[in-house]
Amino acid sequence: MSEKLQPGDRVALLTSGGDAPGMNAALRAAAKVGVSMGLEVVGVEDGYVGLMAGRIVALDLRALDDASRRGGTILGSARSKVFPTAEGQAKAREVIARERLAGLVVIGGNGSLTGARTLRDAEGARGKLRVGGLPASIDNDLACTTMAIGVDTAMNTIVEACDRIADTASAHRRTFVVEVMGRDCGYLAMTAGVAAGADAVLVPEIGKSEDSIVEQAVSMMVDAYTKNTGKRRVLIIKAEGVKIDSASLRERIELQVKEQLNDVDTRVTVLGHVVRGGTPSAFDRLLGARLAHAAMRAVFDGDTDFMAGWIGPGAMPSEATGTRLCAYDPYVVLTGLEAVLRETDKLMKGESAVAQWRRRIFAEIEPILAR
Ligand code: F6P
Repeated sequence: MSEKLQPGDRVALLTSGGDAPGMNAALRAAAKVGVSMGLEVVGVEDGYVGLMAGRIVALDLRALDDASRRGGTILGSARSKVFPTAEGQAKAREVIARERLAGLVVIGGNGSLTGARTLRDAEGARGKLRVGGLPASIDNDLACTTMAIGVDTAMNTIVEACDRIADTASAHRRTFVVEVMGRDCGYLAMTAGVAAGADAVLVPEIGKSEDSIVEQAVSMMVDAYTKNTGKRRVLIIKAEGVKIDSASLRERIELQVKEQLNDVDTRVTVLGHVVRGGTPSAFDRLLGARLAHAAMRAVFDGDTDFMAGWIGPGAMPSEATGTRLCAYDPYVVLTGLEAVLRETDKLMKGESAVAQWRRRIFAEIEPILAR
């Protein structure tokens, strides 16, 4: 733990990477908590791109009140290729020193938190910069938090879209392949699929071949439309991490199903960026606010190089990752960024306990959904 910050110290907020609904609610809470502790809270425009360019702006609490009800991020976001380079790092460090920043709170996903970690030894106004992170990514592909900001809204958006699609699909006795975002992670597709009552969910964690996916779809269609199951549609959700083009998947399903069934159609809907925008759910607003509250208090108290994660009731500290209970909120835990990034890497490689549990449960759910 470093020295505590003092009233009047400057802490900057930055959003980076793919925006996520709830980022604005997190910004609003961070600004208000900071101000109430006597800090000067400023914003960085457009993520690390703006940090390197010194685009530090005052925050308007009324504008944040308004923005907290909206998706996106009022500060803007970016994916920077320059920031990780030596030149980019030097620029960012120069701005941190020049702007007399004592702390920085980064709201974003894996890449953004990797960036945050590189700045933990930047010289700030009160010795080393205090750096805190908040997990925000609709993909839910970060470790050391059960939910990232944005996941709940994205899930609700997918469910709403699937409900609409199910109406028209049932009317026509059609099969729909609905492709959803999630990068290399199937969490969003699977959870939304269960909630929407999908008949199958294709996720990268299961790693099926294209042939077996086509076979599965065809046999589901034959079962649904010929075996008196009462089904009038087949809804297949495909995570974008399953690297098969949805249009060619449809062509192959149609070709094969024609051998057994007449008069059934397959359609594709790619939800794309629709999933990332929109009004944040109450849960995402609250999650953003609670994580931001904990992070700002921790930074104020001299904590650094950590992420505030959401564990929910019965939070469990972990010796393996150094995850510790958070003094400011019993549903929040603080984990060092090094452990967060290491565990996230294991999660994405399928090596962590969470990854193994997800793969097992995804496989178990599959035959149940098809019934
Ligand atoms: O990480 C969030 C995410 O929306 C992913 O689901 C998706 O693969 C990616 O970002 C899309 O990024 P971009 O908006 O840069 O195309």
